[in-house]
Amino acid sequence: MDRELNSNGVSLLDALSRISAIINTLQELDVLLERIMDIAVETVGAERGFVLLYDDSGMRTVQTARNMSDQNIQDLTGISTSVVRQVLQTGETILSYDAQSDERFYDTQSIVVNQIQSVACVPLKIKERPIGVLYLDSINHRKGFVEAVLPFLTTFANQAAIGIENAQLYQKLREENRQLRKEAQRSSGLADIIGQSPKMKQVFDIINSVLDSDATVVIQGESGTGKELVARAIHHQGLRRDKPFVALFCGSLPESLLESELFGHKKGSFTGASCDKKGLFETADSGTFFLDEIGDISTKLQTQLLRVLQEGEIKRVGENHVRKVDVRIIAATNKNLLEKIKDGTFREDLYYRLNVINVFLPPLRERPEDILLLGQHFLMKFAAKCKKNIHGFAAAALDLLPRYPWPGNVRELENTIERAVVLAKGALIGPDDLRLAESNGHWHLPSGMTLEKLARHLVEQTLQETGGNVTHAAARLGVSRRWIQYKQKQWQYARN
Ligand SMILES: Nc1ncnc2c1ncn2[C@@H]1O[C@H](COP(=O)(O)OP(=O)(O)OP(=O)(O)O)[C@@H](O)[C@H]1O
Ligand SMILES: [Mg+2]
Repeated sequence: MDRELNSNGVSLLDALSRISAIINTLQELDVLLERIMDIAVETVGAERGFVLLYDDSGMRTVQTARNMSDQNIQDLTGISTSVVRQVLQTGETILSYDAQSDERFYDTQSIVVNQIQSVACVPLKIKERPIGVLYLDSINHRKGFVEAVLPFLTTFANQAAIGIENAQLYQKLREENRQLRKEAQRSSGLADIIGQSPKMKQVFDIINSVLDSDATVVIQGESGTGKELVARAIHHQGLRRDKPFVALFCGSLPESLLESELFGHKKGSFTGASCDKKGLFETADSGTFFLDEIGDISTKLQTQLLRVLQEGEIKRVGENHVRKVDVRIIAATNKNLLEKIKDGTFREDLYYRLNVINVFLPPLRERPEDILLLGQHFLMKFAAKCKKNIHGFAAAALDLLPRYPWPGNVRELENTIERAVVLAKGALIGPDDLRLAESNGHWHLPSGMTLEKLARHLVEQTLQETGGNVTHAAARLGVSRRWIQYKQKQWQYARN
């Protein structure tokens, strides 16, 4: 077939290479169908033609046509014994050099009345399943409608069908992504907090119910579930929105420093206290104080905190008189405070004072409905930030995201999408861009990995997920901070 020319002198091989080039580049269905029509009409030497496709609901609709009236198309595609119906039913091409004396067309007005001499109607098939037909006919040019052209027509139609299916998938995906984007924008009613799962809806209800009050709130949840985000939302949408929001990570400071941070100190009250200093409770006066990782504070500080909550008073370190403060407290922790009460490291009375309202943020793996929504939200955020023209996720990536267990929760998802946006080459984020080591809840470890290497792999991955926070990584791995630091030193030497 390679050197064969049709009646117009157009090489059939040339037509095939043109169609395979466009199916890889054209993603817009309308444009693709127009091009398919052009190449088909030109190569076979037809004067009229159309492409008909099944749509999602199983209806057959003509997508693109050349030189044909609606009445002609109706006649060829109508329910009765139409050409199109035969081709769709049998999956076989109908080719007729002499249509006027072909009994298959006796009933077909459009062919008889219009004096059509030659007809070709080719099924468009994906894996043997018909998705539509390509119809061509001609009054004057008949040379393109001979048996010898059949293999070309079949190959051409197969190629075209692949292109059409890809374009349809792309359109569907674009629609899905658009839908997700819309949902991401309106899901919570609370600016920036994305979620649509029943569990997050409960969280939104609680948050909305505490906005207009001064009630103390405890936010619990694993690392990366959004505790700080929720704390900020409660402040910024609540009554105190125009007042200060002060946040302190209690886990990182030794007791004496933390005390002076919280309550302030008098000049000379300890070595290094070179001037009077206001504590953060005073800075937060009339606003909100977010005490992050409250589970880590010492029992001495717990007692002082209890007094602030009971009396609304603080005492700077080294001073004897008390100062009044009006502060709304929001505390967060990824520890189980009830267990800490049981083992005597957290005061029960403080717990009940703090825990007026309890917000529990579920781990991401328990609300898979939110994963794609959040993914889309982060995609838009980072695509805009990196000025990259990325529209959404490829189907395989959409499939992978909800199956991954997300041990680092939303933070891990956010980091994953940011990295994927940077890595992505095309308009869609592919599964490889996500770089998810584990795809189905099982570890895929290279054989021959030693226990030591596995430990290192786990520690490094966990540190990545906690944004380098050793305390959080240690908590998650069930080891001490010191163990991680010790191991890191060892590995460092092993490297050098
Ligand atoms: N529902 C959500 N919608 C949008 N972004 C979210 C959501 N939850 C978390 N994030 C984002 O994930 C990241 C981690 O959230 P955040 O810092 O609030 O978690 P955390 O629970 O305080 O974690 P940690 O215990 O490690 O401190 C932040 O960038 C935050 O904006
Ligand atoms: Mg936090």
